[in-house]
Amino acid sequence: MSILVTGGAGYVGSHTVAELLAHGEEVIVLDNLRTGHTGAVLASAFYQGDIRDEALLDQIFTNHDIEAVIHFAASSLVGESVQMPLKYYDNNVGSAQKLLAAMEKHGVKKIVFSSTAATYGEPKRVPIQEDDPTEPTSPYGETKLAIEKMLKWCDVAYGIKSVSLRYFNVAGAHPDGKIGEDHQPESHLIPIVLQVALGQREHIAIFGDDFPTEDGTCIRDYIHVMDLAQAHYLAVEHLRKGGATEVFNLGNGSGFSVKQVIEKAREVTGHPIPVKVAERRAGDPAILIASNEKAKRVLGWKPQHEDLGTIIESAWKWHSAHPNGYAGEGSEAK
Ligand code: UFG
Repeated sequence: MSILVTGGAGYVGSHTVAELLAHGEEVIVLDNLRTGHTGAVLASAFYQGDIRDEALLDQIFTNHDIEAVIHFAASSLVGESVQMPLKYYDNNVGSAQKLLAAMEKHGVKKIVFSSTAATYGEPKRVPIQEDDPTEPTSPYGETKLAIEKMLKWCDVAYGIKSVSLRYFNVAGAHPDGKIGEDHQPESHLIPIVLQVALGQREHIAIFGDDFPTEDGTCIRDYIHVMDLAQAHYLAVEHLRKGGATEVFNLGNGSGFSVKQVIEKAREVTGHPIPVKVAERRAGDPAILIASNEKAKRVLGWKPQHEDLGTIIESAWKWHSAHPNGYAGEGSEAK
């Protein structure tokens, strides 16, 4: 039996495929390559196409004996989602609805869903627990929360069991150096800081230094992409054992400020990494830190790369070896 991974050519998707293959799983990737990369497709079974293509979904579910789906494919830029909410409702909620309809039609009863800390909005307390209030401050977070709710009702109606994984700030790369993080355009802190270290940018703009934190910059919970990948495998195992529909936070449970991340990147790269303080970015909460007790307790999740320096070193290894991301590999970066 196989696992269908939608968005398996993307950053978290490709690292999860690597983890599944390492466990001897049969994997099928479906990706439209709009933000994913050909060079990041590790599975031998690959379909290039869109989840909203019902005929394609029918073909995949008919051709393969699919036991479970891991659903990554989505639009995921918070700022863009505020400008283009309908794109996010179509691409995220609309696609998930089509995927679940195909699963229902073909009797597939297990799904792991890529959710986000953005479902919480501005947290009422940290560390954030899974049953804390969810009040997204962007259409991105809102659409991910809508899908979590759709999943809950698909369990009630069709017995489709799901695990929604709310990621905090993902970083790092696979230890074998073949896959890593490459977004076009890049908007995440650690890759941008490393682009400064590589001389591709002159400085890093710090988005606000007047937040109510010790050094005035935002605090985030950084989690290694391979620890995230491990959690997806454990989520499939949870469902295989007959586990219930659940939501889990995935973070390390400790926070670092933007200035602390930059300082750690200076240590790792040996580059001075000049900074400029800029305006706050709309919708950035001051502090996001996960409680990860539930994932550890229920899934048996054991993060292996909790140290921020290790996470940045792993990202640095990828970025310094692939300064142009997948574009430098002779494969298309779309
Ligand atoms: N930042 C800068 N300068 C930059 C880029 C980022 O100062 O050039 C700051 C941001 O303001 C933020 C922190 O660095 O305080 C981290 O920013 P990222 O863009 O790397 O990550 P976010 O915390 O904004 O986003 C992450 C995920 C999203 C998710 C969100 C939940 O990447 O998918 O958490 O709030 F929606």
